[in-house]
Amino acid sequence: MKVNKAEIIISAVEEAQYPSDELLEFALIGRSNVGKSSFINAMINRKALARTSSQPGKTQTMNFYLINEMFRFVDLPGYGYAKVSQKEREKWGQMIEKYLSIRENLQCVLLLVDFRHPPTRDDIAMYQWLKHFQIKTAVIATKLDKVKRSQHQKNKKMIKEDLQLNKGDALFTFSAQDKTGKEEIWQFLEDILKT
Ligand code: GTP
Ligand code: MG
Repeated sequence: MKVNKAEIIISAVEEAQYPSDELLEFALIGRSNVGKSSFINAMINRKALARTSSQPGKTQTMNFYLINEMFRFVDLPGYGYAKVSQKEREKWGQMIEKYLSIRENLQCVLLLVDFRHPPTRDDIAMYQWLKHFQIKTAVIATKLDKVKRSQHQKNKKMIKEDLQLNKGDALFTFSAQDKTGKEEIWQFLEDILKT
């Protein structure tokens, strides 16, 4: 997809702030620092529309990005970051869960996992939760540029097995640094937008 226009619509913390139109949405989920905000920037060719940081816990609100006035990426706060307070963590958890469970605009969750490591316990729990609620999911393994080519097949197999990935759920590898995987993922998203 050629992205001509990308803008942030709102940083929301509650349902009342969600955009009220019927545009389709793709939500980015994953642990803190996995690369959710970087993924959005890479996909839309912007350096820093979504704020990124080498410190986990950067994104703390649900950020709705309107793309080509046609659909939205929703950047959600990451999970599994130990340094936020228990109270803060619960607040984020509820915020994410609420969005995922009630949002009719949501077409597909893009669950980001780090390609370098086995999925975390939180990754596995999140995937199971999504499947329990029958939410369409694609898994995107990030930071591909940091993994030697000789490891690629082994790590893909590890992710599929550890998550017990459903046959119907896609697994992509992606690098926000060199943009590998971008075209395949756009193709996948465009197919959903067309239906
Ligand atoms: P939170 O907002 O804290 O939940 O994190 P996030 O998932 O949005 O991560 P973010 O996009 O801020 O990226 C975290 C760090 O990882 C940054 O330093 C990015 O530059 C780096 N990063 C993200 N994607 C990639 C990638 O594909 N390759 C490499 N080498 N670094 C990446
Ligand atoms: Mg972020």
